[in-house]
Amino acid sequence: MKIVTIYGGPRPQGNTAAVLGWIEETLREEGHTVERFDLNELDIKGCQGCYACAGTLDAPGCVVRDDAQRILGAMVGADAIAYASPLYMWGVSGQLKLILDRGMSLVKDYMGPNYTSLVGGKKATLLVTCMGPIENNAEWARDQFVQYADYAKLDLIDPWILAGCSEPDKLDDSVKAKAADLAAQLVG
Ligand SMILES: Cc1cc2nc3c(=O)[nH]c(=O)nc-3n(C[C@H](O)[C@H](O)[C@H](O)COP(=O)(O)O)c2cc1C
Repeated sequence: MKIVTIYGGPRPQGNTAAVLGWIEETLREEGHTVERFDLNELDIKGCQGCYACAGTLDAPGCVVRDDAQRILGAMVGADAIAYASPLYMWGVSGQLKLILDRGMSLVKDYMGPNYTSLVGGKKATLLVTCMGPIENNAEWARDQFVQYADYAKLDLIDPWILAGCSEPDKLDDSVKAKAADLAAQLVG
């Protein structure tokens, strides 16, 4: 299967990248193809709110010419999608929020009679790492993604909020095991 991973953190050696890397490693070991997009290294503008994408039904049809075009195309062609972000100010990173917004081009005729999604039915999840706890801290990020998954008709796997992170060398084997488990769910 083909899995697209969307990494929204700025630290390639950070917690989020480490855990996402373990998910990707498991997928590759199982013979799957993984394509990662490192959002911080790409040119991605915010959604312009022009609704031009609504005029195209069989493709994203976003008219903003930047690297998001490739990501949206890869998402359409993927079997599953894993998003990952550090928790920034109780939400996902700005880098990831940009691509969530641009994902509006994947949804057609929202709430209308022909409401459909170009990523409909694909397994998807969100990994968030944070320094603090889950409670009274990471709920917004989780709830936003759950809403987004519903909107985009994704087949949601419960978001994984990894609380209490300091540095990646402190992540223990139980985290690695959970990453492998999440990888299995993405292709299960
Ligand atoms: C700008 C910024 C905002 C942050 N906001 C939060 C927050 O709201 N809650 C929290 O628990 N941690 C917060 N953190 C800490 C990070 O979420 C945490 O260290 C995370 O694991 C970093 O991921 P990384 O190692 O992949 O960069 C923040 C860090 C930064 C730099």
